[in-house]
Amino acid sequence: MTTLTLAEITPDNVDDACGIAVEKHQRHFVASVTKSLAEAYVQPEVAWPRLILDDGEPVGFVMGGFDPASPVEFLRCGIWRLNIAAGKQRRGYGRFGVHAVLDEARRRGQKEASVLWVPGEGGPEKFYLRLGFRRTGRIHEGEVVAMIAL
Ligand SMILES: CC(C)(COP(=O)(O)OP(=O)(O)OC[C@H]1O[C@@H](n2cnc3c(N)ncnc32)[C@H](O)[C@@H]1OP(=O)(O)O)[C@@H](O)C(=O)NCCC(=O)NCCS
Repeated sequence: MTTLTLAEITPDNVDDACGIAVEKHQRHFVASVTKSLAEAYVQPEVAWPRLILDDGEPVGFVMGGFDPASPVEFLRCGIWRLNIAAGKQRRGYGRFGVHAVLDEARRRGQKEASVLWVPGEGGPEKFYLRLGFRRTGRIHEGEVVAMIAL
């Protein structure tokens, strides 16, 4: 049994975070960690970026988005980014990252959370459906909008 933990991004681990890269054929489905951290830098009150560690080894990156005042309902609370490192997938790290954001959402008193994904072969759709997200039927800027009750 290994121990999965989350870490805030600090000067000590930012290189590790930026070094998390998904499989080459998956790059179309998620922004790089570097870009996500740049977005987090300009929206620190909204972004909730975390490194995912397995026994201290960096294996992934997740970023929640919490913007309760957003006029767009599905942008108020949810999974903003999720990147599990190439060669480290299908070991439960993605599920851990999603549940971490959902736990944080509950802590903030939220009742539902969203995720948006790019549709297509090799994308994360089956993963999110497996975790209990349900499609809303809406498409936002080409991405499928899905929700989960908390
Ligand atoms: C999608 C992604 C985050 C999944 O992470 P992961 O660590 O491989 O997933 P997990 O091991 O936690 O899988 C959880 C469950 O989903 C299933 N699953 C994961 N990826 C799947 C896929 N591509 N197709 C079908 N099922 C999948 C697993 O089999 C597991 O099922 P179980 O309940 O039977 O055990 C990862 O593949 C990834 O980083 N992809 C590239 C970036 C991306 O698309 N990010 C999402 C942007 S919105």
